[in-house]
Formats: sequence, C-alpha cells, structure tokens
Amino acid sequence: MSLFSKKQKTSHQAYAVVTGAGSGIGRSFALELGKRGGTVVCADINQAAAEETVALLKGVGATGYAVQCDVGNAEEVKALADQAEVLMGHPTTLVINNAGVGLGGKFDELTLDDWKWCMHVNLWGVIHGCHYFVPKFKAQGFGAIINVASAASYAAAPEMTAYNVTKAGVLSLSETLSAELRKFKIKVNVLCPTLVPTNIIKNGRIPGRYSKLADTALTNYAFTTSDSVANLTLNRLDSGDLYTIPQIDAKLFWLMKRTSPSLYARFLGTSYQFFK
Ligand SMILES: NC(=O)c1ccc[n+]([C@@H]2O[C@H](COP(=O)([O-])OP(=O)(O)OC[C@H]3O[C@@H](n4cnc5c(N)ncnc54)[C@H](O)[C@@H]3O)[C@@H](O)[C@H]2O)c1
Repeated sequence: MSLFSKKQKTSHQAYAVVTGAGSGIGRSFALELGKRGGTVVCADINQAAAEETVALLKGVGATGYAVQCDVGNAEEVKALADQAEVLMGHPTTLVINNAGVGLGGKFDELTLDDWKWCMHVNLWGVIHGCHYFVPKFKAQGFGAIINVASAASYAAAPEMTAYNVTKAGVLSLSETLSAELRKFKIKVNVLCPTLVPTNIIKNGRIPGRYSKLADTALTNYAFTTSDSVANLTLNRLDSGDLYTIPQIDAKLFWLMKRTSPSLYARFLGTSYQFFK
C-alpha cells in the first residue's frame, strides 16, 4: 500500500534528500520543502554551502542536515542514501536529483575532460540518485523522485552539446522510470526550465566570449526565480504530473519539437547561422 495517493501532497511533511542544495534551484527546493513542514538532507559537493542552506532552513522553522557528497561518485551517493534515513530518523520519502553544472562551447572546442566532468555530475549524478533510492522506495512501499533536467534536454541548442546530451539522458531516464514505477505508486517528475538566475554560469565552464551574453540572459530571465520554479515543480509532483516545463519559451520549444521536429531543426539551424 502506497503512502501517497494522487490527492495526497507528497511534498508536504516530506523527508527529503536534495542534491546540489547549496545554491540556486536546489537551495530553493530545500527551503520550499522546509516551509511545507519537511525535513531536508542538504547534499552538496560544497559542504559550507550545504550548511548555509541548513541555517536558512532553521530560519523557516525547519530541520535540515548538511552532507558533503559528490553525486558523480557512486559510493558517496550510496552512503548519502543510507545516512539520510539515519539523520532524519525516518525513511526518505522524496529525492531531488538536482546537482548539475553548466558547460558551453562548440562541439570541437570541448575536451574529453569537459565531457566527462559534465557527464559525471549531470548524468551519473542522477543515475546514482535513482539507483540507490528506487530500491529503498520499492521496499518501503512509498517514495517520490524529482529529476532536474532542463529545456536543453529537448531543445538541442547549438554550442551546448555535452550539456544537452546529459539532460536528454535525464529526461529519458525520468520518462522510463515514471512508467516502470507507476505500479509501485512512486511518483516521478522531471523539471525542464530554460534559464533561471542562479550561480550556474559562475560555477560552470562557459567560454569567456559568452559570459556577458549569459549574464545578460540570466538578468532577462529575472521574471523566473528559483523559488517559483521549485514551488511549481513540487505542486506538479503532488498532482502526479511527470513534466514541469515552467516558462513560456520552454513550452514553445517543447511544442515545436513535438509537433514538427523537422521544421524545428531547420528553425534552429537557420537562427544559429543568423546569430553566430
Ligand atoms: N540555472 C539555470 O538556468 C538552469 C536551467 C535549466 C536547468 N538547470 C539545472 O538546475 C540544476 C541546479 O542548477 P543551478 O542553476 O541551481 O546551479 P547552481 O550552480 O546555482 O547550483 C548547483 C549546485 O550543485 C552543486 N554541485 C556541483 N557539482 C556537484 C557534485 N558533483 N555533487 C554534488 N553537488 C554538486 C554546486 O556546489 C551548487 O551548490 C542543475 O542540474 C542545472 O543543470 C539550471
């Protein structure tokens, strides 16, 4: 018997693990969960940043625990999954595989080290999170998963190949898991935003020639906040929806790609020639 029916609010009073919780969207997820009465294990490769989020959780009257974890390292994620339930004194009810890094550049500018770094965090991080939490959720008979992908998972924007590939993998993994886990009543949601103002550009490997453009783009997207994205995603999870596509441009790319993929490919190639 599942703990959650579609009507029940999975995101309320959750015992949650959030990766990449030291900044941006991950921190917003942690704080929103805290406001909804949850307890949160804040995992991040940056221990000090995770501790800052725990202090902010305390400020909203919630309990959090900071755990240092590199999501690309299988052993560390296994330890995180085991440690989380001990720290919280309760089985984990929600995992948010959010940790990620930004990587830009033309395909032939990227080194194999760039590819491995991006795959290590963005794709292996999510695979590890699902690998160690899904068996626990099945065994305990309840649980929910949010995977943070990106509109890049389907939009295939030029000069973002490695990032696009990792996010396409996260989208596919989430869609497949959603079907597989339906009979276990384990909800899955995948978040696919375009730009959200966070530290992703500052923390990423973005060629100098884009940094101004990227900063401007993030400023122009100030109407989307990481808090609003986290709030919407948790509500979509509660409703049993697989996809969270928060912005109008993300929805437009989604529609174009799904309804007319060839036309979309032409539009992309032509606009790239024009703008580059
Ligand atoms: N900001 C955007 O425009 C945007 C758009 C679409 C998708 N996303 C996705 O949202 C997620 C969160 O990114 P953000 O924008 O909040 O960026 P951010 O840089 O503000 O936060 C990312 C956090 O992940 C942590 N992290 C990095 N590598 C890690 C690792 N190996 N193990 C554990 N933690 C690690 C960082 O320390 C940081 O605290 C990422 O998956 C990103 O790809 C972001």
